[in-house]
Amino acid sequence: MTNAHKIAILEGDAIGPEIMRQALRVFSTLEQHRDVAFELIHAPFGAQAYFDHGQAFPETTKAICDEADAILKGPVGLSFEESKKIPVEEQAERGAILPLRARFETFANFRPIYLSKDMAHFSPLKPEIIRDGIDILLIRELVGGLYFGEKDRGVNADGLRYVHETLAYDERQIERVVRVAFEQARARRGKLHNIHKSNVLMSSVLWNEVFEEVQADYPDIEVHHQLVDAAATALCLNPAQFDVMVMENMFGDILSDQGGGILGSLGLMPSACLGPEKAYYEPSHGSAPDIAGKNMANPYSMIGSVAMMLDMSFNMKDEASFVWDAMTEVFESGVTTADLKGVGDSAKTVGTDAFGDLVIEALERKLAAD
Ligand code: NAD
Ligand code: IPM
Ligand code: MN
Repeated sequence: MTNAHKIAILEGDAIGPEIMRQALRVFSTLEQHRDVAFELIHAPFGAQAYFDHGQAFPETTKAICDEADAILKGPVGLSFEESKKIPVEEQAERGAILPLRARFETFANFRPIYLSKDMAHFSPLKPEIIRDGIDILLIRELVGGLYFGEKDRGVNADGLRYVHETLAYDERQIERVVRVAFEQARARRGKLHNIHKSNVLMSSVLWNEVFEEVQADYPDIEVHHQLVDAAATALCLNPAQFDVMVMENMFGDILSDQGGGILGSLGLMPSACLGPEKAYYEPSHGSAPDIAGKNMANPYSMIGSVAMMLDMSFNMKDEASFVWDAMTEVFESGVTTADLKGVGDSAKTVGTDAFGDLVIEALERKLAAD
């Protein structure tokens, strides 16, 4: 038996535990069919962690994450009203997610926007726009920009409340994520869209300068420069033009949720957050308090995040493909989850647990046949 892969499990809030439960079944299934072992270490993280332990990212959780080979994180956070019960600094987003990203310097956030041809009916876009499905890799810089710049709030000389929020990048931060994007473009279809706002923001002027310096090392890659506002429209009108897209933190936050929109649901959006030494994996979406506890959440994003971990942290490429294929097969068989209901024609809607059952059955078949 090989040494166990040690994984920190941060199940999160609202739908977090429901979708995490289904995702963890992938590990036990792999253990039954392969010579591999996973040590799963659960740790509190997010709003519930604050209520139970007084901190959204407790010290014990930090230590568990430090020790782990990889981290699997469910969505965290509360509804607008509920979040007021927690002091602003300890709310799950500022108190847990951003410190997690900073701790492991997870600068490259891979957010695949993918829909197979046979799942194209889930998209709200017309078939003539979708054509053969959607296959975009959005790469978002994750530890710079407005999210991490200096902030200041106060009352000015006129007695008015003011806030300053700084959008800061240095060339090293830009260079490393742009290089990752060029490498991905090279491994995929050889095309890279640089998304920016250099007609207004000085941060984008520096971004583009550095981008062009890195580009010199990748003469084989077809490059397009696109303003972020135009890119939002292009994602709706002609998503097929994109292969890899790279952009700064906040642009990536917004455009990746739009990516979920063109697929038909945020529940189809997994992600990987890669740092120099460690990676963590999480759905791109939030904790969906509106559907929590109803067995309605789509676990695809969470199970897909496990597939990305198998591929990127443990180099288990075949097993990762089996997980993707198992999920695609379930959807292509005419089954759907509640978030996608109504988009397909005669689809049978199943709950979170039943979708997990079907995916695990399909995965077992693939592992046994291999
Ligand atoms: P959200 O992403 O939670 O939900 C937006 C919509 O998408 C909702 O209608 C929800 O039901 C639906 N949805 C999302 N994931 C789904 C899934 N797997 N299956 C089916 N439907 C799904 O966004 P929100 O409501 O704006 O935010 C809720 C909370 O989540 C907030 O506290 C926010 O800060 C937090 N949040 C956390 C993360 C994270 O942990 N990385 C990401 C985004 C938002
Ligand atoms: C995401 C989320 C987070 C972000 C929040 C919850 C901190 O929206 O991962 O997309 O804005 O990065
Ligand atoms: Mn977001």
